[in-house]
Amino acid sequence: MMVTAPYGGEGRRAQRRFPGEPGQVKAVRQWLAGVLPPGCPVLDEAILLANELAVNACQHTASGKSGGSFQIIVQVDDTAIRVEVTDQGSAIAPRLQDSDLEEESGRGLQLVDGLATQWGVTGDHTSRTIWFELVLGEREF
Ligand SMILES: Nc1ncnc2c1ncn2[C@@H]1O[C@H](COP(=O)(O)OP(=O)(O)OP(=O)(O)O)[C@@H](O)[C@H]1O
Ligand SMILES: [Mg+2]
Repeated sequence: MMVTAPYGGEGRRAQRRFPGEPGQVKAVRQWLAGVLPPGCPVLDEAILLANELAVNACQHTASGKSGGSFQIIVQVDDTAIRVEVTDQGSAIAPRLQDSDLEEESGRGLQLVDGLATQWGVTGDHTSRTIWFELVLGEREF
């Protein structure tokens, strides 16, 4: 039976800044698991995709330099969740690579592109936000 996701009211918003160290990516996953509503039907996808964006912030941007950091904002309402990962920028912009089963890199944004309902990038070389949304839609709660 379909039920209305009991997120209630006007939704909620959480944000946290993480040091840009690879070891922090686990903290990101744990934090998200606590912030998203219990039973959230897109919990696994949200954590998977946020994990990839956090790794990218650490690997490909100034967030990964000494003293660097990145911020995550999560917004949840009855219909969708939105996650934003804001880094400290890099000369090269994120790029979705062509899917090629032989490639061992370029998987992160492919996952985002494949699983997210919508996603995008804002900002410039000084700071970028990579965001995605997962619509709850017809999923059983
Ligand atoms: N936040 C970012 N800022 C700037 N460039 C980025 C960012 N995220 C990704 N990129 C660029 O986009 C490319 C594709 O990212 P993607 O996550 O798909 O692959 P990857 O990180 O290279 O490898 P994988 O995620 O499979 O380990 C990266 O190689 C990098 O050049
Ligand atoms: Mg990546």
